[in-house]
Amino acid sequence: MIEFLQKRKSRRFYLDKPVEKEVIEKLVQAALLSPSSRNLHPWDFIIVQDKGMIEKLAASKIHGSSFLKDAPLAVVILGNSDKSDVWIEDSSIAAILIQLEAESLGLGSCWVQIRNRKHSEEETAGDYIRGVMELPMNYHVECVIAVGYSDEKRESASLEELDYSRVHNEKLGIPYREED
Ligand SMILES: Cc1cc2nc3c(=O)[nH]c(=O)nc-3n(C[C@H](O)[C@H](O)[C@H](O)COP(=O)(O)O)c2cc1C
Repeated sequence: MIEFLQKRKSRRFYLDKPVEKEVIEKLVQAALLSPSSRNLHPWDFIIVQDKGMIEKLAASKIHGSSFLKDAPLAVVILGNSDKSDVWIEDSSIAAILIQLEAESLGLGSCWVQIRNRKHSEEETAGDYIRGVMELPMNYHVECVIAVGYSDEKRESASLEELDYSRVHNEKLGIPYREED
């Protein structure tokens, strides 16, 4: 598992190759197998392959979403605030499980943050997507996960560079590792 996690990196460049139906099905299964508070499953997932809609999603934010335009697949992760007060946590867990499943199947992915982000001075990124996807008010866009076969090389994370100073022993400030 650790080696797998070292290899996982955000991927923002994709080959011009569609994601197969069976692969999408696995991503959907990973999402639906996600744990959620009180097992309420307060999420919905929109599988988007339509180029026009992907381009609209890529325009969600001024920064950090444009790379999405070249992704063959986008998964819009929605939280339903009528179902749970912790839809943010639950939908985030589902999003990362989709990313890990994508990685395990040899695809690359990247999270595009939507919640609490702006589309323009006047409109939030979430309201922009609500408009283009015609979402009811109780559905909130947490993020969009871009998925595709990666067209970039990225180094695995090194265990030597892990920041152990962020880990504490019994009390904040007491290093978990003696040498820190
Ligand atoms: C909550 C969250 C929001 C993120 N939002 C964006 C985003 O809007 N655009 C983007 O290009 N990357 C986004 N990322 C990817 C991060 O930039 C990336 O995970 C981080 O730089 C670490 O790089 P790595 O994933 O390759 O290890 C987000 C990641 C997380 C977990």
